Amino acid sequence: MSSEFEEKIWEVLRTVKFPGMSRDVVSFGFVKGVEASAGTVKVDLQMATENQAAARQIQEDVDRALRATDGVDEVVVNMRVAVPVKQEQAQQQAVMQDPNLIPGVASVVAVASGKGGVGKSTVAANLAVRLAQLGHSVGLLDADIYGPSVPIMFGITEKPNIDGERNRILPFEKYGIKLMSLGFILDTDTPVIWRGPMVMKAIEQMLGDVEWGELDYLIVDLPPGTGDAQLTLTQRVPLSGAVVVTTPQDVALIDARKGLAMFNKVNVPVIGIIENMSSFVCPHCGESTDVFKQGGGERTAELLGTAFLGAIPLDPKIVEGGDSGVPIVVSEPEGGHADAFRTVAEAVARQVAKSAEQPKLSIF
Ligand SMILES: Nc1ncnc2c1ncn2[C@@H]1O[C@H](COP(=O)(O)OP(=O)(O)O)[C@@H](O)[C@H]1O
Ligand SMILES: [Mg+2]
Repeated sequence: MSSEFEEKIWEVLRTVKFPGMSRDVVSFGFVKGVEASAGTVKVDLQMATENQAAARQIQEDVDRALRATDGVDEVVVNMRVAVPVKQEQAQQQAVMQDPNLIPGVASVVAVASGKGGVGKSTVAANLAVRLAQLGHSVGLLDADIYGPSVPIMFGITEKPNIDGERNRILPFEKYGIKLMSLGFILDTDTPVIWRGPMVMKAIEQMLGDVEWGELDYLIVDLPPGTGDAQLTLTQRVPLSGAVVVTTPQDVALIDARKGLAMFNKVNVPVIGIIENMSSFVCPHCGESTDVFKQGGGERTAELLGTAFLGAIPLDPKIVEGGDSGVPIVVSEPEGGHADAFRTVAEAVARQVAKSAEQPKLSIF
């Protein structure tokens, strides 16, 4: 029987946050049991983590919060730290229980890169808005745990609204697309040191707990490289494919190849390569200069047997757009970059349609 006293204990538990995060231990699912009667409280906590320090801290914080509660005389907090189940195994189990967290979304396109700073978020944001401008219903999920960019790129500083009745997070809507970012739920002042299971949980929440509704495309801005976020995504939603963003330098291209290899390994089709910061068009004389090298992305695509989706020029206005909260395809829908993004958006739509004809695998 759940007494009023017990309800109050749950309330208190909801005030205890995971160290460094704005999310509480109840919503993470760490509280496995609460017994509360006549001033005595017993709480069972369980976490699957390698982060022993965080587990100890949570145990202490829970103990302290409960002792400070009116009507509580005695407190016992049990903490069980389970050795994390091998991640792939856990994810496969999860996939079997619930194969698709976002059944209303027709195509999920991951935007990936081998390394950071190549303009992945810029491309993801402008691609999403451009697809919407072409008449599709589009969502953008910023799943970059190390450096979420959607809040700045779209000028959103507030937290998302929650539909309390249905316990759903409502995405923001701006420039015709739905938006959600890990940046909206992270404590911005705390460096993010995330362990696999937490990354998995957060990404699952960004997919399954957000009211995405019916969408033609959900564009996902992934962290650079090949880590837990990539794996979670590839295993929790049927990905239509991944788009790999690169710059024309050799180092970036080598990393892009590694990214491609990773997606191939997990049976996610790579729908193509986008070359960003491709050439520089002088705003004064209009002459085009290849700052790095020419055609590297195209050659890499050819070499790896994937499509070349287009090249985005290097332009200071793109930086301005990113910093000011108005993506360039919104501020200058008729400009040269908007054309470049249009080419890319159309190529992505074409490749997604093509890959839809092939069988998809979301488990490896
Ligand atoms: N085509 C471009 N021309 C000029 N600057 C760009 C271009 N693409 C991205 N940038 C800038 O480069 C920086 C890194 O881009 P970002 O999209 O955050 O990269 P990533 O997500 O890969 O780390 C940002 O300041 C962004 O405005
Ligand atoms: Mg980024």
